[in-house]
Amino acid sequence: MKDVNILAIESSCDETSMAIIKNGCECVQLTVLTQMDTHAEFGGVVPEIASRMHTENITMVLEETLTKANMTMDQIDAVAVTYAPGLLGSLLVGVEFAKTLSYIYKKPLIAVNHIAGHIYANNLEKKMEYPLLALVVSGGHTDLIIMKDDYVFEHIGGTLDDAVGECYDKVARVLGLKYPGGPNVDRLSLEGKSTYDLPIPMNDDSFNMSFSGLKSSIINLVHNEEQRGHEIRRADLARSFQDTAVDQLVRKSELAIKKYNIKKMVIAGGVSANRFLRNAIQELADKYNVELSIPRMAYCTDNAAMIGAAAYPLYLKGEFADLTLNATSSDELY
Ligand code: KG4
Ligand code: ZN
Repeated sequence: MKDVNILAIESSCDETSMAIIKNGCECVQLTVLTQMDTHAEFGGVVPEIASRMHTENITMVLEETLTKANMTMDQIDAVAVTYAPGLLGSLLVGVEFAKTLSYIYKKPLIAVNHIAGHIYANNLEKKMEYPLLALVVSGGHTDLIIMKDDYVFEHIGGTLDDAVGECYDKVARVLGLKYPGGPNVDRLSLEGKSTYDLPIPMNDDSFNMSFSGLKSSIINLVHNEEQRGHEIRRADLARSFQDTAVDQLVRKSELAIKKYNIKKMVIAGGVSANRFLRNAIQELADKYNVELSIPRMAYCTDNAAMIGAAAYPLYLKGEFADLTLNATSSDELY
């Protein structure tokens, strides 16, 4: 079969990214232009600024991607784009750009869900084999999914309130760490010990999770200590939080492994860049003889390579979008 090169576009949050993915598994070129430093000044992503910056940069990112790959649009077989979920204004920039490329160069258009993208990032390491358990941990999602085939997602559990990434970002703020909070809490926790006594969330046999109680207990703890004039051992608190948050993800994954007799597992989403989580899930997988896949760091956080990987099964099935494709901020995959 002839090679299939997909040009993929990702602009759902604060990264303008494009990639060329060959046959759904080989990254020919990945460009990621992050707006992180701009948003850091505001302590979080400012949607209006994010969409303006995508608009300013997207043409340049395309040029750089094609030039570095030493390719032209003639060698591209399809254009894929993230259409949901994410910041609406940011998504719209990518979607309209992809539609324009598809129209001008007469290429099929593929609409990709961002969370499917995170999961399919694993195909860039080794082709996923089914059935598998996927632990999705990002800024907006914390879910346990069983996949029996390509694009067959069975949601078996997940957070009932905040996503784990969101919780990391809030805790970072209380600890006075800069945006993006997750990696900074991860780094600080390395210097600390788990000495704070935090509540253990969802200590039951369900696949449900919760992070808002943990977040509130840390906010209250910090305020109370400040009012009493006590010093907060920031590294210890970061470590205590991280241990508790990761423990919940591991406990719930373990229940799923046992109940569904899981033999293959993948982790997906920005929080899978967390070293504690990577190690803890690897230990769990080893304990149950589960084959575990974790994307390399560059494919964990938002990037277009994962969108190209997720577009490939849709390309093979001929599931193309037309020029009426619209962006949605909240589309659910499962
Ligand atoms: O998947 P992602 O890049 O964007 C969404 O789709 O939401 O995930 C972003 C989230 C943020 O909450 C960020 O703080 C978190 O992933 N994150 C981390 C780490 N790197 C990114 N959280 C913990 N440890 C990390 N090393
Ligand atoms: Zn993401």
